[in-house]
Amino acid sequence: MAPTATYTMATFIDDVKRVFAASRDPLAQAEAVAGHMKELLAVPGWLEEQLNLPEEEGYGRFDLHQDEEAGHPGSGFLLMCSVQKPGQDNLPHDHGAAWVVYGVYEGAIKQTKWRWFYPGEGVDVPQIKESGSFVQHDGSVAFFLPGEIHQTENVAGGRSLVVRLESQRLDSVTRYQYDPANRTVKVMDR
Ligand SMILES: [Fe+2]
Repeated sequence: MAPTATYTMATFIDDVKRVFAASRDPLAQAEAVAGHMKELLAVPGWLEEQLNLPEEEGYGRFDLHQDEEAGHPGSGFLLMCSVQKPGQDNLPHDHGAAWVVYGVYEGAIKQTKWRWFYPGEGVDVPQIKESGSFVQHDGSVAFFLPGEIHQTENVAGGRSLVVRLESQRLDSVTRYQYDPANRTVKVMDR
C-alpha cells in the first residue's frame, strides 16, 4: 500500500488561510476550520512535536502559530494550546466579534453554553442561564460563533491538552465575562 500523506500543522495553517480567503461568513469559516482541526487532531504526535511537554503537568498556554494577515473580523488568527490542570475552569464569557474552535487533543473538557433569557421565558429580569452542555474527548471539536457565551471545565481527572483556533487573537478583541450569581458583566482584561 502506498504510504498515506500525513496531515501536519503547517498544512492545517495553510488550510485555515484558504478558508479566510474563500469566505467572510463566520459560520462558514468556523465550520470549515473545525473540519480541518478534526483532521489535525487525528494525527498522533503532532502536538508533542510543537511543544516540549513534560510527562506530567506543564500547565499553561502556548502559542503555536500567530498569523499576521488572515483572520476575522480583523487580521491575526491564533493557533494555541492550553495545558489545563484537573478541574480548571472559568466564568462564562464570549469572544466578542471573533469566533473560536476548541479541539481536544488529549483529555476531556465540559463545555457549558449560556444565553440571555428575558421576561416571558421564565425569568423576572433579563439574565444569562445555561442553555446546554456537552463533553469533548480526544479528537472532538466544537466552535463558538461571535457573541456566543460559554464556559469550560477540565473534567479529565488529569491534565487536558486543548487546542484553540482564535479567528482573531482574543487579547486584541473586546469581549465580556459574565457572573451569573451576581448578575454582573465586565469587559475582560486583555
Ligand atoms: Fe472561550
